[in-house]
Amino acid sequence: MTAEKTTGKDTEEQVGGAVQDAAAAEGTPLVELSDVSKLYGNIRALEGVSLPVHAGRITCVLGDNGAGKSTLIKIIAGLHQHDSGSFRINGEETRLGSPREALDRGIATVYQDLAVVPLMPVWRNFFLGSEPVKGRGPFSRLDVDRMRRTTHSELLRMGIDLRDVDQPIGTLSGGERQCVAIARAVYFGAKVLVLDEPTAALGVKQSGVVLKYVAAARDAGLGVVLITHNPHHAYLVGDRFVLLKRGAMAGSHRKEELALDELTRQMSGGSELEQLSHELERAPVPQHLE
Ligand SMILES: Nc1ncnc2c1ncn2[C@@H]1O[C@H](COP(=O)(O)OP(=O)(O)OP(=O)(O)O)[C@@H](O)[C@H]1O
Ligand SMILES: [Mg+2]
Repeated sequence: MTAEKTTGKDTEEQVGGAVQDAAAAEGTPLVELSDVSKLYGNIRALEGVSLPVHAGRITCVLGDNGAGKSTLIKIIAGLHQHDSGSFRINGEETRLGSPREALDRGIATVYQDLAVVPLMPVWRNFFLGSEPVKGRGPFSRLDVDRMRRTTHSELLRMGIDLRDVDQPIGTLSGGERQCVAIARAVYFGAKVLVLDEPTAALGVKQSGVVLKYVAAARDAGLGVVLITHNPHHAYLVGDRFVLLKRGAMAGSHRKEELALDELTRQMSGGSELEQLSHELERAPVPQHLE
């Protein structure tokens, strides 16, 4: 079998020259931004940013505060439109008019401050906005049993064994809520899953759980965009790392091309951190603190 004919994860296990062929073997990206720019008034939030999202792959977007990460996902999510460059879905030039349109095209976005109703049961949140009904016309009503059963089995399929899907979603931990949101996107047939800093507010253990579900979504064949500040989290699951700095691309590397310590160095700003360390050393201690 040649590298061109392989798809998905097979290509990663090959060595040497075959790795170079892997990009070609991935085929048309589900979503692709090329040279995209975005202005807010006269603030340039993004300039010349490119990123591919392939089925069964995780593209990580890393960058400091204000780097343009949220702006980037708002464009992919249909909330904002780009000013120049191209945005393709399955190779077709696209300009999304609304988040609903993005969803219809298979792009699901999970925001950090998840749009959940904390007091509603888990199953209710799982189906929010897409509730199945039974019966017809004036006799139609929500198919509650089905929603309960489906929520339980779908979460189980992702490895989350929730004893009681009737508990308010607000009682779940932050990590569990992220997992429910991911399971929901998979269930409703998303092809591309965009996650804005899903591990930002989580401890080590919960972050691990969320990353496991991100990997599960990838294994289910979705293309994933994972926004994060954390190079360690990115490196655990990422296939490609897109680095943003003040709205511009500071690099785009396949995992094979970039070691973790190099990614960490680039993220921490390398020389900037050294400079800061010098400054901190030299700072005189104010008298009242002595
Ligand atoms: N609606 C807006 N109007 C004007 N400027 C904006 C708007 N949204 C973002 N910006 C500016 O665009 C730049 C990029 O912001 P963005 O929110 O995309 O950064 P970010 O990488 O997500 O940062 P953070 O890590 O803090 O979430 C910032 O300088 C920000 O002030
Ligand atoms: Mg942001």
